[in-house]
Amino acid sequence: MLFRNRFLLLLALAALLAFLSLSLQFCERSFPVPLSLAIIFLIFDSFPFHLIPVSTAKNGVSSKSRKRIMPDPVTEPPVTDPIYEALWYCNIPSVAERTMEGHAPHHFKLVSVNVFIRHGDRYPLYVIPKTKRPEIDCTLVANRKPYHPKLEAFVSHMSKGSGASFESPLKGLPLYPNHPLCEMGELTQTGVVQHLQNGQLLRDVYLKKHKLLPSDWATDQLYLETTGKSRTLQSGLALLYGFLPDFDWKKIYFRHQPSALFCSANCYCPTRNQYLEKEQRRQYLLRLKNSQLERTYGEMAKIVDVPTKQLRAANPVDSMLCHFCHNVSFPCTRNGCIGMEHFKVIKTHQIEDERERREKKLYLGYSLLGAHPILNQTINRMQRAAEGRKEEIFALYSAHDVTLSPVLSALGLSEARFPRFAARLIFELWQDREKPGEHAVRILYNGVDVTFHTSFCRDHQKRSPKPMCPLENLVHFVKRDMFVALDSSSTNYYDACHREGF
Ligand SMILES: *[C@@H]1O[C@H](CO)[C@@H](O)[C@H](O)[C@H]1NC(C)=O
Ligand SMILES: *[C@@H]1O[C@H](CO)[C@@H](O)[C@H](O)[C@H]1NC(C)=O
Repeated sequence: MLFRNRFLLLLALAALLAFLSLSLQFCERSFPVPLSLAIIFLIFDSFPFHLIPVSTAKNGVSSKSRKRIMPDPVTEPPVTDPIYEALWYCNIPSVAERTMEGHAPHHFKLVSVNVFIRHGDRYPLYVIPKTKRPEIDCTLVANRKPYHPKLEAFVSHMSKGSGASFESPLKGLPLYPNHPLCEMGELTQTGVVQHLQNGQLLRDVYLKKHKLLPSDWATDQLYLETTGKSRTLQSGLALLYGFLPDFDWKKIYFRHQPSALFCSANCYCPTRNQYLEKEQRRQYLLRLKNSQLERTYGEMAKIVDVPTKQLRAANPVDSMLCHFCHNVSFPCTRNGCIGMEHFKVIKTHQIEDERERREKKLYLGYSLLGAHPILNQTINRMQRAAEGRKEEIFALYSAHDVTLSPVLSALGLSEARFPRFAARLIFELWQDREKPGEHAVRILYNGVDVTFHTSFCRDHQKRSPKPMCPLENLVHFVKRDMFVALDSSSTNYYDACHREGF
């Protein structure tokens, strides 16, 4: 009871905060948020967490009427309230989201778009030992919230899909969630709605407004890739359906990516693994120093009556976030209940962990190497589009927190928040019609323009009044400067990955 009242109060508070930040024209969400959760996830949840979709724009909320004011992440208060942070992470679709995708002066023409998403809200990957798992229904039904007007049409379209549209390991996966009691890691209705909204938002901006694709678009104008989990495939399909409603199945082809880093044939990188081991060690030592955290795990272990170690290994916060995001009370046993106080302590530690992670830079080393292959592929595609080629002008990578997090960190967006459910990171490529040889990029995270927060364009705005970053800045960064940033003696991926004596 207490839990419920509190939850309602918190929701009201969050709504108020969201409203305030909207009216202040501040980029509330995506920017200054900690990546702290990430590490815990890296260790325990080697594949991502839950999703919390925040509100994506409801059916094309117009962003035109809003002024574009970049928040200064340095002056925004750090997010330290664990409950506010958790609600942000849930990303419950309700309030209309302000977005800055597609904003450009009239003389700029949109050439290509690369989209990286985290899957939407999902059922936990872990169970809390000896407790009943949360009863969440993963079937898609119209009379349950959150709802999207395209939900039924999505289900009916998915039931017409065939294996021909998918690279082989994906063929056996269901195309939409359908279990009355969710399976572990399954996408929920919330997750589907989050990505239908994302897709619709991108449709309004990129198709209706900027005419990125012709109405008779062809197969090779899209590039679609997903990991082999049902939640990423289904999230990608929901986004695609919002973007291209009733798309022709014969024109769709989803590639399969075995690696959560999307590193394809370039995954072997010993130095990257060494950075990760050091990072995990840092994370472990920080945890040992937190006596309140240890005490909290001890209390929770007593409640469920298992050794503390076993409880910790079950990564209880994963399951607790699901209870939290779905407004389901935390589990109880004869010995008592897991409570909001426990949740707050664990979340607060995650925020602290993210803070230390940014300072120590081990994760940055891991990220620069881990994100190189996917960034390399992205700039190659953008360069081809800049040359006037019409293939792959819309690319979608359906991925995980452990995909987006290194990309954000490698780009220098270390202040960016941990990828919540249905997070989206977008690279837009524009051509200046007044100087057709010049191309420029914009980077957006959850609808916020973060272009001038990236390490390759941070100084650009000071020197130039242009609203975007030259494509060359990004290309030079990926081809060379990211390795120099890592260790001034390497100038390419192979050398940086095989550094001696690291
Ligand atoms: C949370 O659940 C309770 C009943 O279990 C309900 O009364 C309340 O409206 C729910 N809150 C939200 C925000 O859905
Ligand atoms: C980067 O892209 C180039 C051009 O396609 C390719 O030849 C090279 O193998 C890629 N390198 C990595 C590490 O992904």
